Amino acid sequence: MTDRSWEFTQAVTRRPGPEAATGLRAVDTGNPDPERMRAQHAIYVATLREAGVTVTELPPLKGFADAQFVEDTALSLPEGVIMMRPGAPSRLGEVGSMVPALAPLFKEVRQITGPGHVEAGDILFTGREILVGLSARTDAAGVAELEQIVAGWGHRLRVVQTPPGVLHFKTDCSLLGTGTILSTSRLAASGCFTGYDVVVVPEGEEAAANLIRVNALILMAGGFPRTTALLRGLGYGVREVPNSECALIDGGMSCLSLRF
Ligand code: GLY
Repeated sequence: MTDRSWEFTQAVTRRPGPEAATGLRAVDTGNPDPERMRAQHAIYVATLREAGVTVTELPPLKGFADAQFVEDTALSLPEGVIMMRPGAPSRLGEVGSMVPALAPLFKEVRQITGPGHVEAGDILFTGREILVGLSARTDAAGVAELEQIVAGWGHRLRVVQTPPGVLHFKTDCSLLGTGTILSTSRLAASGCFTGYDVVVVPEGEEAAANLIRVNALILMAGGFPRTTALLRGLGYGVREVPNSECALIDGGMSCLSLRF
């Protein structure tokens, strides 16, 4: 266990390809522009580097429109990496392509073999426990298999519920620091963060809940001025990263990298 699970030295990202225009989305409000997405992705990677991590950038993955959302394919813990089994059929094949990239970077590589499913967008490692939200992408069988692996590494896993209609648990929450969570009011109301300090996202800016704390910096999507002001007022170093294109296919700050 570590209390400082927001400290990282490395990250893995994958550049979006032209197929990103057809990425999965809950509500269709238009296709993203792959060229603009690539430009925004480059800013994201540069900001990760500014936060002090070494970034391994993988090339676009042909045939996989959501492959830039690498976080969903793997859970990184101090003891090793666990390859996920996405609940979205079109994303299952992303996992195999991540293994050769991640294996040299971790002491141990484990795998969710099924029949259940887990996407790491549904997993928040707070340092003191691993919260996993059941969702349309993550089911009880997948979580049971995950629990066996992480228990062997000495971690406590707690099953929670991703709010109905919300893609992933971390769509609605993030770790701001040791013992402190940023959450939408709808998720906080479930009581799943009892025992943590909770900062609630201002009403109307719920999409700002998905951010990442990386060392001294917080990377958050641009366009949420009240959340930015709130976090700066609390003393956090905030960097706004343009994310209009990934947002069209339900991708946020955490989805775009695997940090360890
Ligand atoms: N477009 C991201 C996802 O649905 O997984």
